Amino acid sequence: MRVELTVNGEPLLADDVWEGESLLYLLRERLGLPGSKNACEQGECGSCTVYLDGVTVCACLVAAGQAAGRQVVTVEGLTDRMTEPAALHPIQQAFLDAGAVQCGFCTPGLLVATHDLLARLPAPTDEQVRESLAGNLCRCTGYEKILDAVRLAAGRLAADASGGHGRNAAGPKPGDQR
Ligand code: FES
Ligand code: FES
Repeated sequence: MRVELTVNGEPLLADDVWEGESLLYLLRERLGLPGSKNACEQGECGSCTVYLDGVTVCACLVAAGQAAGRQVVTVEGLTDRMTEPAALHPIQQAFLDAGAVQCGFCTPGLLVATHDLLARLPAPTDEQVRESLAGNLCRCTGYEKILDAVRLAAGRLAADASGGHGRNAAGPKPGDQR
């Protein structure tokens, strides 16, 4: 079947999609967007987290056909692609600066989940961060550096929002309608 959808603001289509194919497979293997990772393919690890019509989902659990006519935003869509090279979103930069990226397999899902968290709760407590990111597993960092990264991102976004000197104001902000 043919699936037409919008990914990161761009209308895209794929032909010959089979019925059991996942949105994750569609994104990675057909649409050239390998940012979302495939670690478990069972909805357990969160490495494939994307937005589907503004709600975070595990792309491995969504049938490609279910995404037809809908809006998907992947980790690639968090960057500001109007600049050359594309500017990292402040959340992405915070993960790098805090040392929260080791093997990186969990990182794309954590970035999308953090983007969603900070859209809902711009200044979350550590408990709220842990709770919100509980579905995103990381085997490398022990989570402390991820907490550091979320705190750093929240602080920078708050500074940007108040007209301060955020390091990187590019890219969609939490709260953007995407
Ligand atoms: S690959 Fe989708 S949740 Fe693990
Ligand atoms: S950095 Fe390796 S799984 Fe998280």
